[in-house]
Amino acid sequence: MNRIKIFDTTLRDGEQSPGCSMNLQEKIEVARQLEKLNVDVIEAGFAIASPMDFESVKQIAKTVKEVTVASLCRAVKNDIDSAYDAVKYANNPLIHTFIATSPIHMEYKLKMKPEQVLEQIEQMVGYARSLCPNVEFSAEDAMRSDMDFLAKAIELAIKKGATVVNIPDTVGYRTPQEVMEYITYIKNNVGNINEADISVHCHNDLGMAVSNSLAAIKCGATQVECTVNGIGERAGNASLEEVVMGITTRSDYYNATTNINTKQIYRTSKLISSIIGVAIPPNKAITGANAFAHEAGIHQHGVLANKETYEIMTPSSIGIPEQQMVLGKHSGRHAFEERLNSLGYQLEKEELNVLFNSFKELADKKKIVSDLDIISLLNNKEATQVNTYALEGFTINSGSTITATASVRVINEGNIIEKVAIGDGPIDAAFKAINAIVENKFVLNDYIIHAVTEGEDALGEAVVKLSLNGVQYTGRAISTDIMEASIKAYINGVNKHM
Ligand code: KIV
Ligand code: ZN
Repeated sequence: MNRIKIFDTTLRDGEQSPGCSMNLQEKIEVARQLEKLNVDVIEAGFAIASPMDFESVKQIAKTVKEVTVASLCRAVKNDIDSAYDAVKYANNPLIHTFIATSPIHMEYKLKMKPEQVLEQIEQMVGYARSLCPNVEFSAEDAMRSDMDFLAKAIELAIKKGATVVNIPDTVGYRTPQEVMEYITYIKNNVGNINEADISVHCHNDLGMAVSNSLAAIKCGATQVECTVNGIGERAGNASLEEVVMGITTRSDYYNATTNINTKQIYRTSKLISSIIGVAIPPNKAITGANAFAHEAGIHQHGVLANKETYEIMTPSSIGIPEQQMVLGKHSGRHAFEERLNSLGYQLEKEELNVLFNSFKELADKKKIVSDLDIISLLNNKEATQVNTYALEGFTINSGSTITATASVRVINEGNIIEKVAIGDGPIDAAFKAINAIVENKFVLNDYIIHAVTEGEDALGEAVVKLSLNGVQYTGRAISTDIMEASIKAYINGVNKHM
């Protein structure tokens, strides 16, 4: 079996796409979860892009210890220096440097001749390698490059010390058959190819990122770059969970395995969705709500007789919790902690205390607290922490014949502040009251509310995207009451600004 390395770029290629940005605390939370998932590499960011990016790469390098931490950089000295300064704190740092090799990118973007690009590769890969033992070279837009030129560029990069060579389908243009032709060409025409890992990085513009990544594995790629939930530039990147479960479920065909702890897939997918406030489509392969649901009678009948009639993998293999123990308002801390442990979570005492309080509040409102409720509480635990503003209470007055009025009460540094506002409906009124409290005019760019668990007393999750002075903040919160979830989410967004 060939061992395929999983290079996760959720925090770089994923995070750089619109609506997917995360703050430092969220990035660290994601990095920790990626470590539990056991990815081989975490691409933590693009260090030179901004001081915030630099700081998050550095903090992630200091935090995760079991996984290689990478920073992206263009093949220029300043970028490489910045990448190394940020990743050098990792146990196993990696500099990921790139330059485009396709005719269109070289001519119009880089304004460089092919010989100049080769010279840049020679100097900059060599320079990166003088700083760091792990260097990945990416030939941007490789899959629209002349194959012969690409082979030359890759051979040179390996000669100068690249330990991984990446062949991206930057614009998601290729078909699986063509990807196989590219990889095979590289294998047959790059003399020193056995000295480096061959990586692929496929975008999803034509919906083929996962198929293309798997095709590359079939003909010898040893690393796949992907993102959780497939987030990323434009139509996204290859989805990590689909690539991994493709390899795992069809290891007979691909003759390959990964080191991924597949039981952490569901949790990781939910965490990302909840942090960036982008819901997972119900029909999404592997982690969508319907991925394991059998609706048609004939299917249900088959599955009852033998699961394998319609199920090629089990929900538990990706960590979808199977309800074993019912928790309710009489459950104690010990039972709660045991349940968390059996779901794979080990929390620090303080975190456990905060979460147990949220659990008790929820158990007061719901008869039965399910495993999914617990995971939602965990994914929203940031929203349960006390921040600059904490909701104290609210009153809403609304109806078809009256103007909606909201009165919102918060605690800020020990003081109660209360404001009343009218609005175009109760949510608008409540959000205006919060703006009055914080004396700022946050603009609401997006607002989503959806049920995160099942049943009449389901938990609702509200996600708001607010902006102030051109900066966007994502706020989120859960509650069995959608008004409360919405108000708390707005306050959570405001607190992120604070
Ligand atoms: O899509 C791409 O080509 C990239 C490279 C920088 C690896 O993201
Ligand atoms: Zn990319």
